[in-house]
Amino acid sequence: MKRPSLHRGWSLRSRLLVSSVTLIAVVCAIVGVVTTVSLQAYLYTRLDSSVDDVVGHVMHAPGGGPAAGRPGGFPGGGRTAFDPRKFVTQGGQTAGTLSVVFGPDGRAFQGAFSRDQATTGQFGSTPLTAAQLSALSGLPRDGDDHTVTVPGLGDYRMKYFVVPGAGTRLAVGLPTLPVSDTVDRVILVIICVTAAGLAAAGMAGAAMIRYALVPLRRVAVIAGRVSELPLSQGEVTLSERVPSADTDPRTEVGQVGSALNRLLGHVESALESRQASETRVRQFVADASHELRTPLASIRGYAELIRRGPEEQGPGTRHALGRIESEAGRMTTLVEDLLLLARLDAGRPLSYDTVDLSPLVIDTVSDARAAGPGHLWRVDLPDDPAQVRADTARLHQVLANLLANARTHTPPGTTVTARVLPGDGVVRLDVEDTGPGIPGDLLPHVFERFARGDASRARANGVAPGGSSGLGLAIAHAVVTAHGGTITADSAPGRTVFRLTLPATAEA
Ligand SMILES: Nc1ncnc2c1ncn2[C@@H]1O[C@H](COP(=O)(O)OP(=O)(O)OP(=O)(O)O)[C@@H](O)[C@H]1O
Ligand SMILES: [Mg+2]
Repeated sequence: MKRPSLHRGWSLRSRLLVSSVTLIAVVCAIVGVVTTVSLQAYLYTRLDSSVDDVVGHVMHAPGGGPAAGRPGGFPGGGRTAFDPRKFVTQGGQTAGTLSVVFGPDGRAFQGAFSRDQATTGQFGSTPLTAAQLSALSGLPRDGDDHTVTVPGLGDYRMKYFVVPGAGTRLAVGLPTLPVSDTVDRVILVIICVTAAGLAAAGMAGAAMIRYALVPLRRVAVIAGRVSELPLSQGEVTLSERVPSADTDPRTEVGQVGSALNRLLGHVESALESRQASETRVRQFVADASHELRTPLASIRGYAELIRRGPEEQGPGTRHALGRIESEAGRMTTLVEDLLLLARLDAGRPLSYDTVDLSPLVIDTVSDARAAGPGHLWRVDLPDDPAQVRADTARLHQVLANLLANARTHTPPGTTVTARVLPGDGVVRLDVEDTGPGIPGDLLPHVFERFARGDASRARANGVAPGGSSGLGLAIAHAVVTAHGGTITADSAPGRTVFRLTLPATAEA
């Protein structure tokens, strides 16, 4: 089963760029998170020790511990002896220090925090409101530091304790704002630096990857050029190679380049041997056809000699001689066709002339009418000459083949029309008949060699004299292609059209 890929359709460049930038982003994120978490933990540890210092200030107030009778001290359990307002403004307390006194019922009943001199213009204390006190009443009493949100003041790091001896229940704390400010600032700096770093890495990475992939693009250009070469037939010179600078086997691109060169070398030798074997076969067919002409002519000659000779022959011998002559004639045509095809395949030059198609059509249709008087023959010709540069004999043969098909593959009574239509730079020649048409499975292969319909095979098997070989349209195709033209077949029951398109001559 094929796995659906998220990156399908992405270029290698985009993939490399996105992967490396993502990797850098992940590393930066991990570094950022670890830095922030450890910095925050460290700052909270320091804040907790500062809270402990504040507790120490309470314990060791000037004059030796919780001093009775002194301002700010507390006289052994007196409910109002410890004045939080005075304590928070005593020397040594940082701005924002908060202190609260708890009653025996466990509720905070009095508290104050010190104001910052910088923002208020004076260093003083502010009593806590009832709402703030009730928020602080919930402070756990386990002697640890806890973060409490005090309405209107923000988060505070608070510690509850009982003054030994005096029994006074107190809580002191410091704001967490400086810690969270520092952490926020560090997070901001990390995000900005990471974003700038990613943008720079993206741009630098894109440039580096583009530079690194230049050789690969050169190799791809060569592969593209080779893919556009017509390799399927004829002689091919495959001179394209990846330059040696891009075939260094120590680099990945070099490995691709040298593999492509080896592949091109193999393809070139395969094409050469294909061409050599095609030439050999063509030469063999041409030679064999050529050699067969003489013995075939002799067979026909001797058969005719015996038939016309003075000796008396029985009806069986006469029939046999007739068959020998007609089959030898058929074989001669076949051999001539094969020879012509072999010569056209070998690219033998044709003898070009300026030919007007109209007289050629009249001649060939006249011949066809003589051969097939049962058909209705029509011509449709333009008033002006329709001139093409062509080998007259070969073109005559093409037309004769098309007209012979329209005669032999249709029943008597069929109308056959030969039409010449001068066009824009081309001349069109249609041979149309109203016969039963070419079978659907044969139509796509009708121009291939030895392609015949079943009825034609039956005739070839001796049912009718002069049976078909299946080479007529193959020859028409080869001749028209050698002239730089095209031939197409369009067929349906009642209408079959063979259309030749030939380049018109300039003087036409
Ligand atoms: N006008 C047509 N109407 C119907 N079928 C046709 C027509 N022209 C060609 N065909 C079919 O196409 C086949 C191939 O034609 P092609 O001329 O190549 O060979 P052939 O006529 O059988 O033999 P050859 O022309 O070599 O004597 C024919 O056998 C016939 O079945
Ligand atoms: Mg034919």
